[in-house]
Amino acid sequence: MVTLVLEMKVEIYYESKSGNGRIAMTKLGEVLSARGATVGVHHVSEAKPKELPQADLYVFSSPTRIGKPIGSMRRFAKKAKLPSGAKYAVVATYMEAQPDKKTGQMPTAEETAKYRRNIQMMDERLSGKGTKVADLSLMVKGMKGPLEDGWEAKLAAFADRLMGKA
Ligand SMILES: Cc1cc2nc3c(=O)[nH]c(=O)nc-3n(C[C@H](O)[C@H](O)[C@H](O)COP(=O)(O)O)c2cc1C
Repeated sequence: MVTLVLEMKVEIYYESKSGNGRIAMTKLGEVLSARGATVGVHHVSEAKPKELPQADLYVFSSPTRIGKPIGSMRRFAKKAKLPSGAKYAVVATYMEAQPDKKTGQMPTAEETAKYRRNIQMMDERLSGKGTKVADLSLMVKGMKGPLEDGWEAKLAAFADRLMGKA
């Protein structure tokens, strides 16, 4: 009997200014590879959004700027050409809520939500181009990181979800 094993192919595109997203997406690539996928991990500046290679799953990861995905990723997602029937996932890195410097008060849920529209805005750009299978909000502890405690376990669980859905 011949068993045909079809490898899952994943292409990850990220922007990262302080390195947290790069560390996370490099790790995601390693975890997916270890689970048997063929993975490409690319900074957006190294990829042509209109000429993306065929893949079973595309992952887009972006830092947040005033609630939104950073400009380079907004443009990349807008231009991105995905093959028909494509599946995609979105990762956002957000800063953990901090107490106000003057009052010591934590922001309200409403204020926090206003600064965390990264995934929602990526969806607005990508939803017409494919089927979303998952998203992940990864926290950083300060403006420039480091990544939240337990981020590796969070990414491993995310990788499992992706492997089940592609
Ligand atoms: C100018 C500026 C604005 C930011 N605005 C937000 C924001 O609105 N919401 C948020 O969660 N994080 C915000 N951050 C923190 C970023 O989320 C954080 O720097 C980024 O996710 C880290 O990812 P990177 O290391 O891959 O660049 C901001 C950071 C900078 C420098």
